[in-house]
This record gives sequence, structure tokens and C-alpha cells, in this order.
Amino acid sequence: MPHLVAASLLAADFGNLQRDINMVNQSQADWFHIDIMDGSFVPNFSIGTPVVEAIRKHANKPLDVHLMINEPERYLAHFMQLGANILTFHIEATNHVHRAVQVIKQGGVKAGIALNPHTPVSLLENILQDVDLVLIMSVNPGFGGQKFIPSTLEKIKKLNHIRKTIGAGFLIEVDGGVDEHNAPALIESGVDILVAGNTIFSSAHPDKTIQNLKNCCNRVE
Ligand code: DX5
Ligand code: ZN
Repeated sequence: MPHLVAASLLAADFGNLQRDINMVNQSQADWFHIDIMDGSFVPNFSIGTPVVEAIRKHANKPLDVHLMINEPERYLAHFMQLGANILTFHIEATNHVHRAVQVIKQGGVKAGIALNPHTPVSLLENILQDVDLVLIMSVNPGFGGQKFIPSTLEKIKKLNHIRKTIGAGFLIEVDGGVDEHNAPALIESGVDILVAGNTIFSSAHPDKTIQNLKNCCNRVE
């Protein structure tokens, strides 16, 4: 499968959100990436459910919702109702990972699990056959525009190796500090989905940047 690009709206101009959504609609981006922060799991707030509802109304591509909230099980049904197509929560944020994954899948939505930079992929051992996607944070979650943590590459290689060994079908997504320079190495290491915020929205030609991220690299299977 060719890799996908998910445009992270956290870096959009919220005063011109509809304009930026339309830019993504018309671009080669595959998904909208939507970051939900609760000011507790991460030291920041982002957007809440009314804004997700507004995004859904205008977006014509899948919504990839990344929950950075404690006890995500409290809000899974809510975000599914709002139209999330992929719903990802953090393994560090709940004691009931398996249950949360089942709830998402029973809702007919793709289930993702996210890992903070310090969390080893070995923690996923007993859930990898159940999830549709693993999101590897390549910055500490909470803010856009941070610098990519280089050790993430090894982590992705390790996860890709495990995926091959156990024959699992989950996708690997990388989130944080992704740009046109590190994208080729990320794809080569096994990434299926590049999340990109700042590098797209701070660019003079965001649609061109998306195109570069899409066409940057050939996967080595
Ligand atoms: C960070 C978020 C990311 C963020 C990525 O907590 O999960 O999705 O928007 O933004 P950039 O690409 O600017 O690092
Ligand atoms: Zn994110």
C-alpha cells in the first residue's frame, strides 16, 4: 500500500478553519488528523466536540481522531457519533486498553493505540492482533511544531519487525515533527501514515508540501 498523509488541523488557522479544511479537501492528503487534548493527560487544550462537528460538516476525507485525554473510554461513543473514522487513544491513559479497543471496533470504527516517546513497543504485545493502527509519537504530545525525536526511527523499525513476525495487519502512523526531510527514512522504516501539521500549514504552498510528502518516497516491502 502506498503511504498516506494525514494533515493535522492543530496547525491550521482556526480563524479560517473552513478555508484550511477546503485546502486539505482539494489536496492529495488522505486523512484529516484531529488532536483532542484535555489539559490533564497533556499540558494543553485543543478543540472540543462542537469544533469536531463543524470539521465533519466540511471535511470530505476520513477523520483520524487522536485522543490525548485521560480515561478515553468516557468519550469513545461521543467521538464515534461525531463521525470519527479512525479513533486512537493512548495506552498510558487507561487501564482498560482491550475493552476500549473492542468498544471502538463494535462501533464500526477503526481502532488505534498511541504510544508516548518513552513507552516501549513491547507493551503492545497482547493487543497487536486486535488494533487497526499503532500511532507512534515522535514528540511529546501536547503541542504542534516540536522537533522530531530521532530515536523514534529505531522504535518504528522494531514495531515493523514485530508486525512482520506475527503477521499482524495494523498500520503504523507517526506523529510529531514530521517533514519532507525525515519522511523518506520514516517510510523506509515501515511507516504507513505520516501525520504532519506545522510543516504543511506554515508552508507558503501547503498543497505543494502535501504533494511532496505524498510523493517523497518509495516503500521497500
Ligand atoms: C501533538 C499532536 C500532533 C501535532 C503534530 O501532540 O498529536 O498531531 O499536531 O504537529 P507537527 O507536525 O507540527 O509536529
Ligand atoms: Zn496527533
